[in-house]
Amino acid sequence: MKKFPAFLFVDLFTVYQALGLSYEGSGAIYPNSNNEVVHEETYYPPELDYKYPHWCQTFKLHNGHMKCSSPRGGNHRNTFGTRCSLSCEQGYKLLGQSSIHCMSGRRWSGTAYCRTVRCRVLPYIQHGTYSCSRSFLVHSKCDYSCFQGYQIEGDRYRICQAGGSWSGAEPTCADHDPPKLKCPLSRVKVAEPGKLTAMVSWERPTATDTTGTSLQILRNGPDSGSEFTEGQYVIRYKVYDQARNMATCKFTVHVEVRRCPLLKAPLHGYLSCSSNNNNYGAVCEYHCDPGYERSGTVHRVCLFNRSWSDQAAECTLMEIKTDVRSAGALLDQFYEKRRLLIVSTPSASDQYYKLQNIMLQSAGCGLDLRHVTVIELIGIPPQEVGRIKEQFLEPEVIEGLRQALHITSSHFNMVLLDELGVDRERFINPTTSDELYTYIEEYVLTEEEQERLQLNRDLCD
Ligand SMILES: *[C@@H]1O[C@H](CO)[C@@H](O)[C@H](O)[C@H]1NC(C)=O
Repeated sequence: MKKFPAFLFVDLFTVYQALGLSYEGSGAIYPNSNNEVVHEETYYPPELDYKYPHWCQTFKLHNGHMKCSSPRGGNHRNTFGTRCSLSCEQGYKLLGQSSIHCMSGRRWSGTAYCRTVRCRVLPYIQHGTYSCSRSFLVHSKCDYSCFQGYQIEGDRYRICQAGGSWSGAEPTCADHDPPKLKCPLSRVKVAEPGKLTAMVSWERPTATDTTGTSLQILRNGPDSGSEFTEGQYVIRYKVYDQARNMATCKFTVHVEVRRCPLLKAPLHGYLSCSSNNNNYGAVCEYHCDPGYERSGTVHRVCLFNRSWSDQAAECTLMEIKTDVRSAGALLDQFYEKRRLLIVSTPSASDQYYKLQNIMLQSAGCGLDLRHVTVIELIGIPPQEVGRIKEQFLEPEVIEGLRQALHITSSHFNMVLLDELGVDRERFINPTTSDELYTYIEEYVLTEEEQERLQLNRDLCD
């Protein structure tokens, strides 16, 4: 087929038109025709030259369809006067004329092409992403997903519709997962020995949000490492994540004070206990009343298994053996138990001795209460008598006492010994019972004995 430059067609056409001539093979010339528009009313079928059926070049519409009608019938698609309506396949959009016709100048009245339809680029969403089956082309399905710890709200996918718009609406990713919080195990703690409290520690819980951030934890109750008194405690922890989702946990701390059964005081004696008397670790000491001595253990300890160590002690009446053969054997019996007041006089008729006796008679019970035993040494050797109340001492013992303690028989004198046998005070004049008591209480008795004395002061009166 011959090809002519376009300008040649135009020129020739104009020339022929002006001359009112019919160009060879041109079919017909439209009256009032111009390049672009043909009105139906003015249209009439031109005379066609079948020698040149391809009047216009074949119009190619990629990815589209043409529906043409020719005045000469279906086969003559490029002939002068053919009109085509253009449309695009799905997913394509027609740009240009939707209808063209083949003009007398062997040109189509317009042009068009099919362009791929695209939806706009989808923006990314916070805490999530999407993936698309066919990018942003028509029919592409974009599935949304949220990052760990977030849930999708709204449309799970959007489809690029034929018209180039997205279906549905943009979803959001919301955090509904509460953070994870784990409390330590509940625990029982026994109060420490000799105490009514226990120090309890635990590993403080930590919390992480499902989104991975670490969070600040609130506590209700005592903190780890606190000193707890006896009882049951509930410790709660609470945490919020950034989306105000809350998690809580709790555990209990039970502080137990172990106790032994209360000890009974011995007959003719009493107990003094440390701590709270009968809690684990408490120590009780057995004491005997004046004139009684302890047999058995001094201390008992409240053990972990709620029982007392050792056996109960007893208080038995103190018996002094006076038939011993030496001063040492006599004094040994008083060691750590009794104090001694040794009274020495040249004769029973000594004025000082008589006076002292009167004062001590009224104080007999008082000296007993103050843990003091009186030993009397009366007369000058070899006619001397030694006695403890109604019990008489051997002559060797009397001699031994005088020598060991430097007690003269030539005049009235008294020696006060403490429970270790140490010489604490000497008297060469009769002494009133009050003076004697005061001295004993202040310098010889232990604090505990003094307290005890206050309790029993009027027992003898
Ligand atoms: C308690 O423990 C002590 C020493 O550990 C033991 O001798 C005693 O038998 C125990 N008592 C009881 C009641 O289990």
